[in-house]
Amino acid sequence: MCVRRERGLLSLERKHEPRHSPKLHMKAVLVSASLALVIAILVAWFQWRWSPMVADLVVTNALVFTSDDSLPFADSIAVRHGTILRVGNYSSLKEVVGYGTKELNLKGKIVVPGFIDSHLHLIFGGLQLMQLKLRGINKKDEFVRRVKEAVENRTPDSWILGGGWNNDLWGGELPTASLIDDITPHNPVWLSRMDGHMGLANSVALKLAGITNSSEDPDGGTIMKTASGVPTGLLIDSAMNLLIPFIPELSVDERREALQRASNLALMRGVTTVVDFGRYLPGSSVNLPWEDFSDVYQWADSSGKMRIRVCIFFPLETWSRLLDVVNKVGHAVSKWIYLGGVKAFADGSLGSNSALFHEPYVDEPQNYGLQVTDYEKLFNLTFAADNYGLQVAIHAIGDRANDWILNMYESVISKNGIRDRRFRIEHAQHLAPGAADRFGELGIIASVQPEHLLDDLESATKKLGFDRAQKGSYLFRSLLNSNAQLAFGSDWPVTNINPLLGIRTAMKRISPAWENAWNPWESISVHDALKAYTISAARACFLDSDVGSISPGKLADFVVLSTDSWDNFASEGSASVEATYVAGVQVYP
Ligand SMILES: *[C@@H]1O[C@H](CO)[C@@H](O)[C@H](O)[C@H]1NC(C)=O
Ligand SMILES: *[C@@H]1O[C@H](CO)[C@@H](O)[C@H](O)[C@H]1NC(C)=O
Ligand SMILES: *[C@@H]1O[C@H](CO)[C@@H](O)[C@H](O)[C@H]1NC(C)=O
Repeated sequence: MCVRRERGLLSLERKHEPRHSPKLHMKAVLVSASLALVIAILVAWFQWRWSPMVADLVVTNALVFTSDDSLPFADSIAVRHGTILRVGNYSSLKEVVGYGTKELNLKGKIVVPGFIDSHLHLIFGGLQLMQLKLRGINKKDEFVRRVKEAVENRTPDSWILGGGWNNDLWGGELPTASLIDDITPHNPVWLSRMDGHMGLANSVALKLAGITNSSEDPDGGTIMKTASGVPTGLLIDSAMNLLIPFIPELSVDERREALQRASNLALMRGVTTVVDFGRYLPGSSVNLPWEDFSDVYQWADSSGKMRIRVCIFFPLETWSRLLDVVNKVGHAVSKWIYLGGVKAFADGSLGSNSALFHEPYVDEPQNYGLQVTDYEKLFNLTFAADNYGLQVAIHAIGDRANDWILNMYESVISKNGIRDRRFRIEHAQHLAPGAADRFGELGIIASVQPEHLLDDLESATKKLGFDRAQKGSYLFRSLLNSNAQLAFGSDWPVTNINPLLGIRTAMKRISPAWENAWNPWESISVHDALKAYTISAARACFLDSDVGSISPGKLADFVVLSTDSWDNFASEGSASVEATYVAGVQVYP
């Protein structure tokens, strides 16, 4: 079409030739040539912009793992306006390459769908990037040194906040306030343990919170005390809420910066969608996800600052508030923000001896763990939320907590009737015999974090004994065999956000420090692990029509890996992220 128009203009020119002087003639030629050029550019632009068929990006010569069973592998992807137009071999999408199509030749590199982290704490993790980092410290002296460093240059009375410590790395002895009281005489200190179920306060903080010899344990929590009844500074599960309200709320600007930092880290690791379980602490009635939703997420969305897609879960107690919002705006606030469902806790964590088991802890024979929510209350809330069509996710780590929630879900299903509700259990770490099968039978999603396996092996053997730990922990293969939907995540900042680490761990079940893999019969293939981090994770949060696979019509979120050998990747599981694309735009590096 554009070619014909140019010809028309030129022939018009020739007809007029004899009547004008050479100067005028030149001018006319120039004017009409530039006119022709403008028209040609406009036409080309319109064609490129509006033709239903022309791609703006074509990825070629790649080894694309699609997570889509209808075409598991391909070599090319065509993208248009942020959406996947076609997937296949180059010959099958050559016809959508047109004027303005950018071609990206990947020279055989592996491409996978953008990873979906099914369980993390995005803003909470971003804030930790800005606070005192104690992750990985394996000496108590170093722990003290870092706290001392953080106190320097701080004004008296300002809070020192930090987290990520793991006493198992220095032999298991728990830290106490006395360890840091001398170096922190004027500043309250609160340092949460890696798993977030326990924290250490110094004496200044305990005093501020009014925690003394005579303070009693709240329901679902423990104030650790010495043999003579003095608080040691450690607060477990709901006992943390005796102190947390005294910590001044963070400024909006700090939380917005946390989102940016967390998003950048996620994209660097190939994570393009996350399910955010908020800054919500066990047994807490403080609705932090709601504040972050309005102050941070909605702000970022409306000012064009969202860089990854976020699906948010809210406290189960606030289900009717979520229902009101969903009824007004729907689940998809935009292509960046999705309103997920509601979440509650059944128990605590293994590391803090508060996960709920059928048998007692081997290292604490009177202790079976903590049931952190009242049975009837949890049932009533789940029943109500489900009755109004909201998705419910419940944290359960110990085998008894998992059985309890499976039973509860079963009875809610029988009361409210069969529908596509995708109930989730978060963590599902330790399962009693037969429980894995029930996930499949009842259609319950197992939202698990492979990297926890590496943190837990030593403590699981110590706390549960070798047999129980071998038979019942991290049963990924058994869950898949039961046809349960397995959704992977990191629980970041509890473990590393990098999905490729989780994928490798799910395949190998071994850390470099160990001689043997942990119940290696529960290992899964690279295909299944990739799916658990992509399409199954998308189904687990009802986003499978938008993301989760490289399929025509879905958002063009994908990741280029550093390797071009599928065989090597499938056997070793080692690779790194070379580039990340969101909606067809390169966002990393
Ligand atoms: C892609 O190409 C391969 C090898 O040339 C061929 O075997 C396969 O059938 C093609 N796939 C599609 C979807 O065209
Ligand atoms: C707490 O108990 C310890 C040991 O029994 C005692 O030495 C200390 O004075 C008590 N503290 C307070 C504030 O009562
Ligand atoms: C749960 O609901 C039942 C029936 O509506 C009610 O009788 C009971 O008091 C509720 N229990 C709790 C703990 O809310």
